[in-house]
Amino acid sequence: MNLLIFFLILLLLLLLLVCSFVFSVFFLIFPTLFWGAIYVPTKPEVVKKMINLADIKPGGKAIDLGSGDGRLVIALAKAGVEAHGYEINPFLVRLAQKNIRKAGISDRAFIHLKSFWKEDFSKFNIVTVYGMSYIMGKLELKLKKELKADAKVVSNSFAFPNWQHSKKEEGIYLYENKD
Ligand SMILES: C[S@@+](CC[C@H](N)C(=O)[O-])C[C@H]1O[C@@H](n2cnc3c(N)ncnc32)[C@H](O)[C@@H]1O
Repeated sequence: MNLLIFFLILLLLLLLLVCSFVFSVFFLIFPTLFWGAIYVPTKPEVVKKMINLADIKPGGKAIDLGSGDGRLVIALAKAGVEAHGYEINPFLVRLAQKNIRKAGISDRAFIHLKSFWKEDFSKFNIVTVYGMSYIMGKLELKLKKELKADAKVVSNSFAFPNWQHSKKEEGIYLYENKD
């Protein structure tokens, strides 16, 4: 009898494990792969380099495309701009909002549970992105169509196919002068 209960509990645990695996693949990993990129956080030293490369002047508006745990949004806000992160993973949205509260910058750092493909970029003058190579062509077209002439884009690891970068430092690309 005891053995039967043991095996039943084991079976239940196995079932739970399989269900959570299926859930994460189909609802978290698969959709983010399809729409943009899976979650890989930018290393802290790379965050610093991205902010330095952007040479941020206080007062503007920044957007991080796929904001993860909010580390770039927090760094952008600390650099003096109003920072917005767009993220489709609700767990990461909650985590980023918690991190922003902890950092004490809720007045200038905001996370939106929304696909960046559905956002109009025209109000932003700094864009940061850590995407995937296969979205860069489509993203380039959207950015060039919507951004104002003086906007800057900083991309971690992936270059745009046609837009010539103005600077490149250790795998970080800076884009200006979209015209
Ligand atoms: C490579 S991670 C980068 C996270 C963060 N920006 C960083 O640098 O640490 C990419 C993030 O984009 C999110 N993402 C993918 N497609 C998206 C979309 N269409 N709209 C908003 N977020 C998206 C993923 O959920 C993931 O958290």
